[in-house]
Amino acid sequence: MCGIIGFAGREQAAPILLDGLARMEYRGYDSAGIAVRSETKGLQVKKAKGRLQVLSDLTHGGADLEGTLGIGHTRWATHGEPNDINAHPHVSENGQIALVHNGIIENYLEIKEQLQRHGVKFTSDTDSEVVAQLLEFHYNECHNMLEAVGRVLRRIEGSYAFGIICSDYPNALIAARKDSPLILGYGENGNYIASDVTAVIKYTRDVVYMEDGEIAVVTPESIDVFDSEMNPLEKKHSQVDWDVSAAEKGGYAHFMFKEIMEQPEAIRKTVSPRIRDGRVVLDDVSMTVDYVKNISRIFIIACGSSYHVGMVSKYNWERLLRRPVQVDLASEFRYSDPLVDENTLVIVISQSGETLDTMAAMREAKRRGARTLAIVNVVGSSIAREADDVLYTWAGPEIAVATTKAYSTQLVLMDLIGLYLADLLGTVEKSEYDAILTEMQLLPEKMSHFLEHFEDVQYFASRYFNHNSIFFIGRNLDYAMGLEGSLKLKEISYIHSEAYASGELKHGTISLIEPGTLVVALGTYAALFDKAMSNVVEVKARGAEVLAVTTESFKEKMEKTADSTIVVPDTHPILQPSLGVVPLQLFAYYVALQRGCDIDKPRNLAKSVTVE
Ligand code: F6R
Repeated sequence: MCGIIGFAGREQAAPILLDGLARMEYRGYDSAGIAVRSETKGLQVKKAKGRLQVLSDLTHGGADLEGTLGIGHTRWATHGEPNDINAHPHVSENGQIALVHNGIIENYLEIKEQLQRHGVKFTSDTDSEVVAQLLEFHYNECHNMLEAVGRVLRRIEGSYAFGIICSDYPNALIAARKDSPLILGYGENGNYIASDVTAVIKYTRDVVYMEDGEIAVVTPESIDVFDSEMNPLEKKHSQVDWDVSAAEKGGYAHFMFKEIMEQPEAIRKTVSPRIRDGRVVLDDVSMTVDYVKNISRIFIIACGSSYHVGMVSKYNWERLLRRPVQVDLASEFRYSDPLVDENTLVIVISQSGETLDTMAAMREAKRRGARTLAIVNVVGSSIAREADDVLYTWAGPEIAVATTKAYSTQLVLMDLIGLYLADLLGTVEKSEYDAILTEMQLLPEKMSHFLEHFEDVQYFASRYFNHNSIFFIGRNLDYAMGLEGSLKLKEISYIHSEAYASGELKHGTISLIEPGTLVVALGTYAALFDKAMSNVVEVKARGAEVLAVTTESFKEKMEKTADSTIVVPDTHPILQPSLGVVPLQLFAYYVALQRGCDIDKPRNLAKSVTVE
């Protein structure tokens, strides 16, 4: 979703701002802009609808804008259509203040009307411009930018990360945050603000995560952070420990493909440190046996692909723990008056750790007394900081909008937690526990082996890429995996696709199957393989073309019925989705490639969804 970058330093700001925005392109956007202040030219603002390249061309790579202080923004439209005028930065009426904003100002209409009564003229449809104008209004009253920002923050409601510059302040930019991420970066040639570390990692690894309600004044020499009462704060610095190359394509055509290929290593990094002497060790979680025994109910809450991880885990955890596990979409959970109390364990899953729906659902669960455990990839993100406990998936930065390696690491981490809890409860046999752990450690190798033959999937994609509607069917874990396969395909290839529990087809959906319809049949779940096969026969009988995914054990049987078969290595049944999902990711990737889609930045989508 929207990305903010700001720089106060001793170098020309515009090229740095454009570079930072380029590194945040993956977040999703539809327009971009920068504002730079110089002694001679004052505030200069350039904005453009469309790709960042348009803005870069417009400013000759930033060379046209002179000055060492600036802010930049990529916008993902919420209020007002994507166009040049609604793009950020927004400038106050007298042209003295420029502002970039992520988030939503809920009471903007009321403030807008009030300012209009004072004669203020607006040019855009955005809630963000209202803040720029309100800032000018208060600045005219108090003539102190920090004080004016404080007054504005007390007046507005909603979520925000702001970057602000003012022509009266040649060296300082002001930042503020509430419910929208913002980091401060300490560099050699100046200091930064950014929505995420990928924007500044090229320049510094020394960062501070801003908290809700905090305000920062950033100059080339220093960064001062204040609480909402303007009391100075001492902030803890963090060192970003991943390499800049982790956020670069490194010779691959797309981030998505690179990230698919990185999955074995990401799984290894997530699993290895958590298995010691044949046991699962979750150092960062402090649940006692008594607490676990008193858990009456478990909720798993997430959105999108993270929710699909929850679907797999529901099957696995209920099997392992013999406790009711409910998976809820975060956006539904928070408004459903959920049955949550202090004996409820709430697991929230989020790659970005910033998804607003998931964050709000977690807060609601906490408010009702539940204990929350967050599974997060981005270190220091909002969800990670607010949860009672956090376990990180060590997938490294995920840049492609369509998640792959984060999904895979979430899956194995949830399996590990399931085993850990089952062990505490005594609901898993030792032999089963050992077998799962052994197989889990073999997953990276088996996945690598499969990935060596990625061209097989490419072949099927070239055969089926021109279908306009595709069904994914499977039972139990295969159904949960099908949900993810279907989402991957539709989000990057724009092909309409649905995932169904195979047994449910005959209750309606089978009427959509006609000669030539492509059905991706998932038959990796051993316990229900024969049942799944009956459903494959049903769709074949109605003329469907069947592309199957199965395991080595069932290859022969599947090949007798399906038109095409992709075979993944066998593993423990609980872990089978970790291998089964890989061909589905590759299939989506190659279909999208054949169709000429913008794979890493699919239309209308954002990487971290920070609005409701
Ligand atoms: C799909 C995808 C999204 C995310 C969803 C939740 O490929 O990436 O569906 O899974 O937006 O995001 P996080 O996990 O960051 O909360």
